[in-house]
Amino acid sequence: MLESIKEDYILLNKKSWDEVAPRFFGRTALPVYGPFLPTENELNLFGNVEDKIVLEIGCGSGHSLNFMASRGASELWGIDLSDTQIETAWDLLSAHKSKLNLFQGPMEKNPGIPSEYFDIVYSIYAIGWTVDLPMTLQQVFSYLKPGGTFIFSWEHPLHNRIKQEGEQFVIKKSYHEEGPQQCEPWDLPAMMNQLKLSTYINELIQSGFQIEKVIEDVVITEEIKSGDSTVWYTHQKASLIPAAFIIKCTKK
Ligand SMILES: C[S@@+](CC[C@H](N)C(=O)[O-])C[C@H]1O[C@@H](n2cnc3c(N)ncnc32)[C@H](O)[C@@H]1O
Repeated sequence: MLESIKEDYILLNKKSWDEVAPRFFGRTALPVYGPFLPTENELNLFGNVEDKIVLEIGCGSGHSLNFMASRGASELWGIDLSDTQIETAWDLLSAHKSKLNLFQGPMEKNPGIPSEYFDIVYSIYAIGWTVDLPMTLQQVFSYLKPGGTFIFSWEHPLHNRIKQEGEQFVIKKSYHEEGPQQCEPWDLPAMMNQLKLSTYINELIQSGFQIEKVIEDVVITEEIKSGDSTVWYTHQKASLIPAAFIIKCTKK
């Protein structure tokens, strides 16, 4: 993709995220990783974060950073494209101002985040918005101390290829097709880079990460069945294919 097109997508997505942000405040935030995924309380992927320096990529309204604060992280850093999200995060985390650093900007570029500084870099349901995965992973790799951990969750690439039509599930797009596409569930213009699961895994390896765990488990509780599904994520569909995935890896 040409650099100018990537810049255009970033500008387009920023405009839309600034507008829709209030609809998403705290919606996908730790201990929740994403729809129908086991939670951090069950998985314990982060382990003990006490006195750890953490950075969130696509930190949104700051709810996951708040979770990190509640677990004793020593420094809270975040970057997000949207001014609306970053302003909300500053408000939400006002009690932790002395250990808080937030940046508005695209995850594909370093806005002044220190290198080899973080014990943990993580991203909860945001990394799939990158217009340049290799560039984003290069930044994440540089921020981490050697031996540091990177954990992220995102929508499973199968999810939007298969549509629910009544009681039928229909393959609407090829799994093999990658590239920018309009974010389907939105009525505002927003571009998402559609990638395969193998692309995430191979780009992580290419960037120098060692993969520790890939999780695509689905948890459907009776409570969810009784009406918590959204139109985009239904428990009927999640009972057949994963709605989301998590990858945990280490900087070698
Ligand atoms: C689903 S939200 C993540 C919510 C977040 N986990 C929380 O706890 O509030 C996705 C976030 O990605 C951000 N985003 C989208 N494209 C981005 C980019 N290129 N760089 C940085 N952030 C981006 C959006 O502004 C949005 O806040």
